[in-house]
Amino acid sequence: MARDARRCRSAWHLAWIGDRIRLWYNAENVATFPGGLVLAMQSYHIAVIPGDGIGQEVTPVGVKVLQAAGALLDACTFDLEWFDWGCDYYLKHGRMMPADGLDILRQFDAIYFGACGFPTVPDHISLRGLRLPICQGFDQYVCVRPARLLPGVPSPLAGIAPGALDLIVVRENTEGLYAGVGGRTHRGHAHEVAMQTQVFTRHGVERIIRYAFDLARTRPRRHLTSATKSNACQYSFVLWDDIFAEVAAEYPDVTTDAQLIDALAARCVTHPESLDVIVASNLFGDILSDLTGALAGSLGLAASTNINPTSAYPSMFEPVHGSAPDISGRGIANPMAAIWSGALMLEFLGQPDVADAMVAAIEATTAAGRVLTPDLGGSATTEEVGEAVLSHLTRQGQLLTT
Ligand code: IPM
Ligand code: MG
Repeated sequence: MARDARRCRSAWHLAWIGDRIRLWYNAENVATFPGGLVLAMQSYHIAVIPGDGIGQEVTPVGVKVLQAAGALLDACTFDLEWFDWGCDYYLKHGRMMPADGLDILRQFDAIYFGACGFPTVPDHISLRGLRLPICQGFDQYVCVRPARLLPGVPSPLAGIAPGALDLIVVRENTEGLYAGVGGRTHRGHAHEVAMQTQVFTRHGVERIIRYAFDLARTRPRRHLTSATKSNACQYSFVLWDDIFAEVAAEYPDVTTDAQLIDALAARCVTHPESLDVIVASNLFGDILSDLTGALAGSLGLAASTNINPTSAYPSMFEPVHGSAPDISGRGIANPMAAIWSGALMLEFLGQPDVADAMVAAIEATTAAGRVLTPDLGGSATTEEVGEAVLSHLTRQGQLLTT
């Protein structure tokens, strides 16, 4: 596989020089500013794994928008490598990714992921063979899932005011009920037993709560809600509650509340405007983020991260919707969640302006309301929505440069 010499991973290379030196750089990777200031643009080495089902349809559209956004703002380029890992790969090779898959991925700046799982392979095999080993192997402990009601998008909540749904679910992403601890034995007997143990470590709980407080601090409302079920689960969730209270004491500028998950699910529906950032364990965050995504109009808009904030390993960015076998192959999947996930990737990589431009282009597309996929009440295809987002992006780029 070609390792691109243009790659400059660690920092922007700045040169205060004349045109001759500019020739040393690859023109594609260079932005020239008045007075001869030349910036060699950051290039990101990205592993692209479209995976299964509609992942294969939305990922190429997301990549196109990423590339256009980076180029338009003269901000960055992408050195992409595509991987055909997933259920088809499993049927050919007996595994979801090669045995050294994590070693291959380790060298990338980030992973742009589509979806994992298809009816051809049992879900627990596909997920535990690709998506979860990446999250856990790379200690991607932060799953951030924004849900915001965009202009022009109808919510299933009748009469909801614009701006009333604008929240972020921060999901612990490596332990809890996903830790993979447990067993199943005495198969086929009446006394067959299965146990799936919820694992909470002080280290794991504290770091996700801290991340959520730091995030809440950056938002205008500065409010954090903790989701647990401490009344029924007296060990794991009470540890979580204790740590939440300890960490809260360090963030006097952030208001907090802690709520049982069942009541919180109801509150998401009845009073979404009261929520800002929610921090939840792995399974609760999974369920809540499907709920909040649906309330924001469609899972086709719900974006997600799997972040290791230390950058010791690459982080991974993917839409929440999964492979959607019911609509896959029809070219009608909404690419907006994949595009938004790409924006979250760029924000994480240090390109907030490009990320903002991408999200603004999604918003402009929903506000215009003309080119939407069926999940949002339209009849456009995945590609057409991608083109519509691109054209709004281009318009923004022109505004920025005029
Ligand atoms: C999600 C999905 C996954 C998860 C599944 C496919 C394992 O539901 O990203 O929300 O629960 O993490
Ligand atoms: Mg889910």
